[in-house]
Amino acid sequence: MSSESEIITLIPGDGIGPEVCDAATQVLDASGVAIEWQPVEAGAEVLAKYGSVVPEGVLNAIRKTGVALKGPITTPIGHGFRSANVVLRQSLDLYACVRPVRNIPGVDSPFKDVDLIVVRENTEGLYSGLEHRVAPGIVESLKICTEHACMRISRYAFELARREGRREVAAIHKANIMKLTDGLFLECARKVARDYQDIQYRELIVDNCAMQLVRNPSQFDVLLLENLYGDILSDLCAGLVGGLGVVPGANVGEDCAVFEAVHGSAPDIAGKRVANPVALVLSGAAMLRHLGHMQAASNVERAVHVTLSEPRNRTGDLGGPANLDQITEAIIQNLE
Ligand code: NAI
Ligand code: MG
Repeated sequence: MSSESEIITLIPGDGIGPEVCDAATQVLDASGVAIEWQPVEAGAEVLAKYGSVVPEGVLNAIRKTGVALKGPITTPIGHGFRSANVVLRQSLDLYACVRPVRNIPGVDSPFKDVDLIVVRENTEGLYSGLEHRVAPGIVESLKICTEHACMRISRYAFELARREGRREVAAIHKANIMKLTDGLFLECARKVARDYQDIQYRELIVDNCAMQLVRNPSQFDVLLLENLYGDILSDLCAGLVGGLGVVPGANVGEDCAVFEAVHGSAPDIAGKRVANPVALVLSGAAMLRHLGHMQAASNVERAVHVTLSEPRNRTGDLGGPANLDQITEAIIQNLE
């Protein structure tokens, strides 16, 4: 590859990860941007070998390239090692999780005009992994909330809103119950909001927000959330526009960014090559935009939209007959 190539770390992940990564890299390679992919492994597979689900070599690879495309990684439920995804985000201080949720032409949804961005704090809250047994039958989980993290995620949300010409930021909380932690989160959001008089600001309690989202999602613009609410409402929002197969995402820090879909490793369909690669392809388009390849990014997005407008190209999650290879081939053809 020439020295002009973009060097990008690739984490295929597990479950449907390797399949959707294969599809996404094929599409991005066809976009006209020269990319040198540097694959690295994370997750259960490497735990025995390196003693960590995210070995130092993976972190260093991303620190060096500054950019990674990542497939989902499985985390055991109720026991076992910590989530590789959480470890990666915390170790690289990828503090902002950004998930644009939009209707895609041709994809059935109960709503029109959904166009919102989820901005989720990605490094603390209940994802700090600080759990312990106090006594038999009693366990505790610590929700960490710092002024530093709340200020920077609030600032990120307002900066994003301004950059993208957005109207409003809504801070989502449960400060009626968690008066100190969510209280601090709100205090910080309010403080930052005062510096952005051009952007409207409002607050909603998270349960009400969930209800409003399924009744009238087009009222929302930028949602600012702490870690757990952001995780849960991201999947809810995906459900508003066609499901987890179509919603992309990015984990962004000061020095690096890791692009990945909202969805997980989907063990129920892994290895069958029927997963929808669109969410990761669109994450890849966001990555191209992050690297300054605006035209190529728009071309990929347009190719996805043209592809999905044909019912025969849609995968099973969207009610269509196509498998992963057929939709990938169609996206590539529509790029040319
Ligand atoms: P999931 O997102 O993997 O799957 C939920 C449902 O959506 C399943 O029915 C699945 O088949 C479907 N689905 C997801 N992505 C799809 C796609 N691209 N195309 C078609 N259908 C798709 O969530 P689940 O089952 O709760 O979690 C499975 C594993 O993934 C867990 O170990 C979890 O920890 C992990 N996970 C990893 C994430 C990451 O790596 N960032 C994010 C979320 C979950
Ligand atoms: Mg999630």
